[in-house]
Amino acid sequence: MSGRSKAMKSPYADFERPPGFVYRAARKSARLVSDYVLFCEDVPLPKLAARFGTPLYVYSTSTIRARLAAFEKAFRGFPHTVCYSVKANSNLSVLRLLAHEGCGFDVVSGGELERVLAADRHAAKKTVFSGVGKTRSEITSALKAGILIFNVESESELSVLAECAGKLRKTACVALRVNPDVAADTHPYIATGLHKHKFGVPIDRARDLYAKAAAAKHLRVAGVSVHIGSQITDASPFREAMARVTELVKDLRFDGHNINYVDTGGGLGIAYDEAENDFDGYVADYARAVTQPLRGLNVHLLLEPGRSIAGPAGVLLTSVLYKKQNDGKRFLIVDAAMNDLIRPALYGAHHEIVPVVQSGPQKTSGDLAKKETADVVGPICESGDFFARDRELPEVKEGDQLAILDTGAYGMALASNYNSRPRPAEVLVAKNSVKVIRHRETVQQLLQNERV
Ligand code: LLP
Repeated sequence: MSGRSKAMKSPYADFERPPGFVYRAARKSARLVSDYVLFCEDVPLPKLAARFGTPLYVYSTSTIRARLAAFEKAFRGFPHTVCYSVKANSNLSVLRLLAHEGCGFDVVSGGELERVLAADRHAAKKTVFSGVGKTRSEITSALKAGILIFNVESESELSVLAECAGKLRKTACVALRVNPDVAADTHPYIATGLHKHKFGVPIDRARDLYAKAAAAKHLRVAGVSVHIGSQITDASPFREAMARVTELVKDLRFDGHNINYVDTGGGLGIAYDEAENDFDGYVADYARAVTQPLRGLNVHLLLEPGRSIAGPAGVLLTSVLYKKQNDGKRFLIVDAAMNDLIRPALYGAHHEIVPVVQSGPQKTSGDLAKKETADVVGPICESGDFFARDRELPEVKEGDQLAILDTGAYGMALASNYNSRPRPAEVLVAKNSVKVIRHRETVQQLLQNERV
């Protein structure tokens, strides 16, 4: 089943997420192409489902590497560090893979910091700590670990950071996260760059706060940070935010501050409804938008992509438990649920769903498999427990498997135990090797912290 020739290009290319997830023709005989099977790298997904059960998160090493490489290439002319946003997918093996590729990290909690250190004990010096509600104990751990920079989000946090650093007789490097008041076209729950949002300090108040920070003995002003939201697919709000940050950096330097870092945050969106055919070009556009306003400033950029690195690198494999029809409405009831992947329920998010085995063009008509329109739903007792509504899908049978695409980011990371459902296992594939990077949770583990 090695490299596909052009002639054998799958009719399902729109649903492929290369290089990780690609359909390959399964030949029944030398001439007859009967089925197309979705592979993760060199491993057929049905094999993983049979071996590890479903629901199962499957990640592709080569996709993660390729996506990080696209960032490195697009920003190569500008001093920068990619600080992968751990919240998107925080599995230790994913973090270690990225650390080995030279990545730094963006963390938002003591837990995420622990993960980063467990994945790579040298990673602290490339780690930034963001978040509106850092506790004293989290700040103290980060100071002890010796992280690169704190993205501070309020005046009170500045005082707490100064106090914690003083107790440890350390100096904390500080950037203020400024809120540039730039609107981004995304779901309201994940837009963060307007005054009405809880994030950052208003950009026009920043100079005062920088003066306070500079006066504190245990703080060293070193940068400016910004993050305007997530799943943003248009470059212009990034450009606008950076233009405002550039003005601020000039003002701050005029005020005598040493500003070496500009942290652009994350937020670059992905194409959930189609295959991305030029990710390198897309990241290059983003890089131009971000760097153009900053040209000549001589700053080191910190980038915090999460979704755009991990999203298309993962699928959630699930099996069809039951098919049913209520008054003409069809349902596919699958064994994954909103506790495993909450994005459709929480944000009305779209994920493509594809059978892992699809029939090839029929010999007589050349048509693909028959389609049917159904809601794809989980077993949880809420009507919000759906992955797709009125979706046209190739006809599947009970027992068949589906892959929910682009679930490598904010999939497992947001999974819960609602309905006392153990969370899925996760596997990481590299060519033909498969590693279980998280075992399936057991009900016993769910109960173990509880007492009667
Ligand atoms: N940096 C900061 C400060 C952030 O708050 C975030 C995401 C990122 C970086 C990474 O953003 P990304 O490159 O992944 O867009 N659960 C939601 C997404 C929440 C994003 C929160 N912050 C979802 O499933 O769409």
